[in-house]
Amino acid sequence: MDLSTDYLGLALRNPVIASASPLSRTADRVRQLADAGVGAVVLYSLFEEQLRREADENARLVDAGAESFAESLSYFPAEAQDEPGPRRYLSLLERAAAAVDVPVIGSLNAVSPAGWADFARAMQEAGAAAIELNIYSLPGDPHTSGRDVEQRHLDVLARVKDAVSVPVAVKLSPFFSSPGEMALRLDEAGADGLVLFNRFLQPDIDPETLAVVPGFGLSSPEEARLPRTWIALLHGRVHASLAATTGVETAADVAKYLLAGADVVMTASALLRHGPEHASVLLEGLAGWMSRKGFATVGAVRGLLAAPVDAEAYERAGFVSALRSANEGDYPT
Ligand SMILES: Cc1cc2nc3c(=O)[nH]c(=O)nc-3n(C[C@H](O)[C@H](O)[C@H](O)COP(=O)(O)O)c2cc1C
Repeated sequence: MDLSTDYLGLALRNPVIASASPLSRTADRVRQLADAGVGAVVLYSLFEEQLRREADENARLVDAGAESFAESLSYFPAEAQDEPGPRRYLSLLERAAAAVDVPVIGSLNAVSPAGWADFARAMQEAGAAAIELNIYSLPGDPHTSGRDVEQRHLDVLARVKDAVSVPVAVKLSPFFSSPGEMALRLDEAGADGLVLFNRFLQPDIDPETLAVVPGFGLSSPEEARLPRTWIALLHGRVHASLAATTGVETAADVAKYLLAGADVVMTASALLRHGPEHASVLLEGLAGWMSRKGFATVGAVRGLLAAPVDAEAYERAGFVSALRSANEGDYPT
């Protein structure tokens, strides 16, 4: 069984990638993911705000050290300066890339234009096989126009593409008026990959404590339907690689994304829920399914049920026929 595949021009041993999550917080954990068989690992994101906070804290510790007693003079400033945020991340990247024989992809969420370019370049220098742009920014200001939000994505991509020579993937949100057009524009602008879709923090309200509580639960397979539909619609229409993210719990979920047209399938929640070893369960299940169905390569599976083949099922006609069945009482309970 040949599970090898290509993603962003990188040769991977298989299409299952550990997506950005706390599972890549240490080089040991990255090694565990690689030992479990994943084809590549995306490190958790480097957030520029976090670096600023750490830099402020660093400066505060240095000041505090300078003003207080001798012991803290030697301890705090040294501790503070030793591994400031970016260096810690870059050092992890370097150690992780050296520890495993699969590509390690750096993930970046910057704020300032210079931040995007500088941190991406530093990640490349630290050994990142590629850079994933986690453009996580909720346009909470109701005056922000859709075109402005789209332009920001294109600007960030252009900046990072100028700064690095390794491939660059863009992790997208599904919240565009036309996610398809956004994908085409990023593709034309030179994105090497599109990662569909990011999952956003959706705060909840606790009516008992009268507080807003941060919400970041793990995903369920039902949530894979939206990214899968868009992957099916975009397969064969973009040069960029297509990476699926969200809702992969079982090998069947991996198979479904490949059938829709994904080049690779990423997973975070399932690995957090079951441990890094779950990657081997997904891979064995995928190989078993392929052999049962008579597929010898991942290439033979990819895109078999993409929209150009089965466009009606994905677009209006599919919706209308599903609605007709539901109206006739034919829906799962
Ligand atoms: C606890 C947690 C932390 C995450 N951290 C990041 C991150 O740092 N950067 C990022 O791009 N995505 C992050 N994600 C999103 C995942 O990479 C993934 O895209 C998303 O969870 C959907 O995939 P899943 O259904 O397999 O979890 C995180 C997800 C979880 C659950």
